Amino acid sequence: MNLPAHDWRPEQARKSLERLLPELEEMYASELEAVTFDWSRFKNRLNREWERLFGYLHELYGWQYDFHYTLERILRALVRSWLERPEALRRLDERREADPEWFQSQDMVGVVLYVDLFSDHLTKLKENIPYFKKLGLTYLHLMPLFATPHGENDGGYAVSDYRSINPDLGTMEELEELADALREEGVSLVLDLVFNHTSDEHQWALRAKSGDPDFMAYYFTFPDRELPDQFQRYLRDIFPEVRRGSFTWCDELERWVWTTFNSYQWDLNYANAEVFRAMAEEMLFLANRGVEVLRLDAVAFLWKRLGTDCENQPEAHTIIRAFNAMARIVAPALLFKSEAIVHPNEVIRYVHPEECQLSYNPLLMALLWEALATQDIRLLEHSMRTRYRLPTGCAWVNYLRCHDDIGWTFDDDDARSVGIEPAGHRRFLNQFYSGEFPGSYARGKKFQEDVSGDARIAGTLSSLAGLEEALEREDSELIERAVRRITLLMGIQVSIGGFPLLYAGDEYGMINDYTYLHDPRKVNDSRWVHRCRKRWEAKEDLADADTIEWRFFRETVKLFTLRKQLPALYDGGMEVVDSGNRHVFAYLRAHADHRLLVAANFSETPQRVDGRLLDAWIANDEPLDLLSGKRVPIADGLVIDHHSAVWLDGAGPGTER
Ligand code: GLC
Ligand code: GLC
Repeated sequence: MNLPAHDWRPEQARKSLERLLPELEEMYASELEAVTFDWSRFKNRLNREWERLFGYLHELYGWQYDFHYTLERILRALVRSWLERPEALRRLDERREADPEWFQSQDMVGVVLYVDLFSDHLTKLKENIPYFKKLGLTYLHLMPLFATPHGENDGGYAVSDYRSINPDLGTMEELEELADALREEGVSLVLDLVFNHTSDEHQWALRAKSGDPDFMAYYFTFPDRELPDQFQRYLRDIFPEVRRGSFTWCDELERWVWTTFNSYQWDLNYANAEVFRAMAEEMLFLANRGVEVLRLDAVAFLWKRLGTDCENQPEAHTIIRAFNAMARIVAPALLFKSEAIVHPNEVIRYVHPEECQLSYNPLLMALLWEALATQDIRLLEHSMRTRYRLPTGCAWVNYLRCHDDIGWTFDDDDARSVGIEPAGHRRFLNQFYSGEFPGSYARGKKFQEDVSGDARIAGTLSSLAGLEEALEREDSELIERAVRRITLLMGIQVSIGGFPLLYAGDEYGMINDYTYLHDPRKVNDSRWVHRCRKRWEAKEDLADADTIEWRFFRETVKLFTLRKQLPALYDGGMEVVDSGNRHVFAYLRAHADHRLLVAANFSETPQRVDGRLLDAWIANDEPLDLLSGKRVPIADGLVIDHHSAVWLDGAGPGTER
């Protein structure tokens, strides 16, 4: 007879907390006296989340003989970090707990930038808050700005110390001041948690190199090729142009070290509970500096398992969920955003209120570029219809470009179901965006082409959309087309559900920068082509209505402002609408009695949409197009100009039927 298994965990979780907490309360008695009220709130959260945290930790480390010690260390880290949490951030915690959906607001607008490329320094960045306000910003992601090796450092993604800022950019105090100033203006500070690996100059790595066994156990090191070779059979090369294989020989250690990315980025071993605890403390340290969102870098690679590709392992999710539970206890205002640029089935598995509340939307990004190249929306439409929905309490972060490459991460069966042969299609997209395809307007660079010819694409939004070529040819007709392509994509990014994240520079049509080709530290990484220094002269130009920069800036501000005014754009609910035309991508947004129908024409020629198809969604014969400000009759069908969109307002007269 099969008896249902008795779940012993709630009981054991409770017991362990009852054993451990009183000791800590005694240890910190004098500090706790001053904050009794807040402490009782903390304890409420601890009681609420502990069972979950205990379960995750037990799953990861329960089999280790010193599990109780792990629990004790982690609980102590929670209490210590909470005690160190500044008053202003505790108040923020309260506000966020009272309004957990705050990031679903249509008011949300994000920007991501490199401090050095944007303003050289953190203090100068602070002086630019008015510029951000002009854009309507509420979310500012600064690319990694921590101490890092002097030579190559993967654009800051090789971190040598999570508690100190790269001295060229500023200090931790300046970061905190910036966080405060931003918060006062309603802007959330976002940083990366680069937690899959450290640089080989991190203190942990240095101590490992000196032969300290406790720190060698922070990483994966091997005396010979036996295990590396066994693992390697299933691994993919992330940077195949730089280096084959995922292991690097370390002379000091005389051992092989696991390095998924560059040879100076050492993967951390999360099977070691000390690594988990140490990184959790770094996470809470950053939360206490005023960081409101952590972009969890390279989440897919966190856990290794022999005989698999070591990506997206179940334990990767458990680790993030355990971090999430710790954040809920100490710093409930803190959110996670996942960076999982992997197959769409896997991307979605990181998104959950108890894991990452926010996620990049790499599928939308890739398929917008796909539809732009093919002028055909079928793959985009099919994929968005089936894959857009997220669990409640979560949101997509929609982007067109970021500091990384574009990978064609669509699902092969999705492609086949609309008559596309996936491998050939990816080849076409790479040729198109690298400008090799006859007639292509794009000026991208291939990134990390491998032996099979597979590659990804680097390049700025404007250069990929044809602006660079058009400007070079000084052809106003081509310029016009490029501008329209860019605004078409931006319009979708700001309206489709979730919130937009602008890559700084795109607001003034930044084009590729080829100077990286002359820099030995960058020449092997074509992503530098789109990591450009801010052209402040362009900002001066913004006053001059005729420049292309000004036109982009105006368009960007217009779209962001419009977004903020439309109740229908709250949260991520989106329904794909059949436009009956394979060039026109259409969707409905609806919230609080407001409806908005967006229809976007990806073709180089004007396209007609059948009036009856629209009529089913918009109960108004002559709805207002919010983009042009004009009423458009739809009964006899609607013609949308090339690379243009309409935002049909469903509110107002005629909405009631
Ligand atoms: C992420 C970053 C990328 C970096 C990699 C390794 O994918 O976005 O720029 O190279 O992680 O940290
Ligand atoms: C990321 C992604 C990969 C991306 C790379 C950075 O973690 O998985 O697709 O291109 O690292 O370039």
